[in-house]
Amino acid sequence: MQGNKQRVRVIGMFDSGVGGLTVMKEILEAIPEVRVIYFGDTARVPYGNRQPEELIGFGEEIITFLISQGAEAIVVACNTSSAISLSVLQERFAIPILGLIEPGARLAVKKTLGGKIGLIATEGTVRSKAYTLAVSKALSRGLVPADLVLRAAWQRGDQPISLVRAQACPLFVPLVEAGLANSDEAGGIARTYLKPLKRAGIDTLILGCTHYPYLYPVIQDILGQDVVLVDPAEGVVTELQKLLAQLEVRNLSQITGSQWRVRYFVSGDPALFRQVGNTLLKQSIENVRQIYWTE
Ligand code: DGL
Repeated sequence: MQGNKQRVRVIGMFDSGVGGLTVMKEILEAIPEVRVIYFGDTARVPYGNRQPEELIGFGEEIITFLISQGAEAIVVACNTSSAISLSVLQERFAIPILGLIEPGARLAVKKTLGGKIGLIATEGTVRSKAYTLAVSKALSRGLVPADLVLRAAWQRGDQPISLVRAQACPLFVPLVEAGLANSDEAGGIARTYLKPLKRAGIDTLILGCTHYPYLYPVIQDILGQDVVLVDPAEGVVTELQKLLAQLEVRNLSQITGSQWRVRYFVSGDPALFRQVGNTLLKQSIENVRQIYWTE
């Protein structure tokens, strides 16, 4: 019956592995009408130190696949791909593609109380300086800092907020993919990575890799409660809500019918993805299919 049909939007998302599930979780909780086709490129994880051409090629391949499965818009649920390949991918595909960097930077600018923002991310994201640029861009585009002292300085024309220190954390991704986010090893490694950020006196930290929110309690504990942790996923939810409102206006195709909420595809071992994903998300992951890329 026409009236009983559920109106849904199908969003394609991808990451090198289980990291993007942290973004997916936020989206599913905040936007009930969204269905997700998730791709974890687990045969090629990690992305953190890959060359731009490789990341662009992976992105093209995965987005083409997601569109073939019915995706109406894409969320690049990987900071490294967002930092390095987003603008190229946006040019190459006709459907809307959202990344994490600008939403994450805007959120940090809004939330900082001291103006000293830190970043932890993959080597590729740190090297790209995408977050440094996005923080400056957010301020130059008139994003008003919430803190009154910072706001007054900003209104005088000063630049009271900046990204003061960025730290690559290459061991976090393999630890998370191995299901060891809450291990003693992860705690020890986090202490080492976070030392320079503590020394720099940051008051806000961007979790600039989608695998890192799994380490949230460990990181908060090391940095102390006074440091605000920013997960760019929160920012991308707002962007996606705006985008969906526009899609509605343009009246793009509406998928109706069967009851699935998420479909998972991986390029590596589906059983491992299911097992690690179940533990990390604390909910059951079904529907995982392996895709074999043809050379
Ligand atoms: N989770 C991804 C990111 O946000 C990729 C991490 C990796 O594979 O190195 O950057």
